[in-house]
Amino acid sequence: MNSGIEKLQPYPFEKLADLFSQAGRNAGLPPINLSIGEPKHDTPAFILETLSRSLSGSANYPKTRGSDELRETIKNWLVQRFELPGNSLDINTNIIPVNGTREALFSFCQCLIDTRKNNPLVLSGNPFYQIYEGAAWLAGATPIHINCDSDADFAISYDSVSEENWKDCQLLYLCSPNNPTGNVCSLETYKLLFELAEEYDFVIAADECYSEIYLDESTPPIGLLQAAKLAGIENYQRCVVFHSLSKRSNVPGIRSGFVAGDANLLNSYFKYRTYQGCAMAPFIQQASIVAWQDEEHVKENRRLYCEKFDKVSAILQPVMNIDIPAATFYLWPETPIADDKFALELFQQQNVTVLPGSYLSRQVGGRNPGANRIRMALVASLAECEEAGYRIRNYINSI
Ligand SMILES: Cc1ncc(COP(=O)(O)O)c(C=O)c1O
Repeated sequence: MNSGIEKLQPYPFEKLADLFSQAGRNAGLPPINLSIGEPKHDTPAFILETLSRSLSGSANYPKTRGSDELRETIKNWLVQRFELPGNSLDINTNIIPVNGTREALFSFCQCLIDTRKNNPLVLSGNPFYQIYEGAAWLAGATPIHINCDSDADFAISYDSVSEENWKDCQLLYLCSPNNPTGNVCSLETYKLLFELAEEYDFVIAADECYSEIYLDESTPPIGLLQAAKLAGIENYQRCVVFHSLSKRSNVPGIRSGFVAGDANLLNSYFKYRTYQGCAMAPFIQQASIVAWQDEEHVKENRRLYCEKFDKVSAILQPVMNIDIPAATFYLWPETPIADDKFALELFQQQNVTVLPGSYLSRQVGGRNPGANRIRMALVASLAECEEAGYRIRNYINSI
């Protein structure tokens, strides 16, 4: 058996189920779940209609590379969204459709890591999306987590990484906008990372699955490919982005996203995927095309999240310091007591589920940046989110 299996940590939701396993909940109140980042806004009808209209495509094996039409649509979306030169992306070499970013973030690492080199490392922020850590272990690499700095808007403290670790780094996962902190990587930080990637020869994998959930319509978050162009990086060298329809279009169930960037890297990754056997179903490709072509439903999505952030933060502000993030649908506030105790008592007394912050992070350099924080996903309806806000306020007032 792959020795990495033993190193895999229980997933945060398993830890939560464990925490709650002996706890009775307040059954007098209806449950409200803010722990899972699963979008709950309605899936646009035109996506579902296209999906069902396209089912006859099931008679064919799909191509690993997906249809030309899908890659062309993705290219147009990338060019328009991130202000990229149209001729900087070739649909045959720079784009691969994937079945959601989770599988792709994982498999890209399996393809990339070279275990013939000494001490391969995979770097990511702390807190982080746990797939990065598991992907590193199972690829035979060691994950290194770099603390974020709560005094600097949760930016990752890249200057805390040692020279030895940069030398051994083969892959750096960057999650921007960040789950759970909401931090958006700045152009200045991207430029620093480009210099480091060139000096130490590693690849930057940017998980941008929250790029479309931002709160100010006039400032969409900058992406890795956009930053690469602005920094004058030729052909997106060492850069790969991961995008998803799950959050953007409220379709986490159809499993649709794409990987784009450095053609040399994607050439090897394409080869890897043909063996992995994970092409996107033809009817999902069709539904994805219409989803990527429409921005109206995405705007409406953002409007709904903005409304929830405004209302919930107003309810909680008297009892908690609430910073509304620039992007994502998460709140990441500090708790007055230990985060796991807070989550447990809130569940027992108010039947509201939130995720303890320390389940999303590790102890590094003597501190755990998720400790004494909770992650609240504002995915439920406005009424439910408001109700959860009032119950959390009542709970804090009772402590
Ligand atoms: C940071 C981050 N990356 C990737 C994913 C995976 O999303 P999907 O596989 O639906 O594209 C998630 C899902 O919650 C996430 O939070």
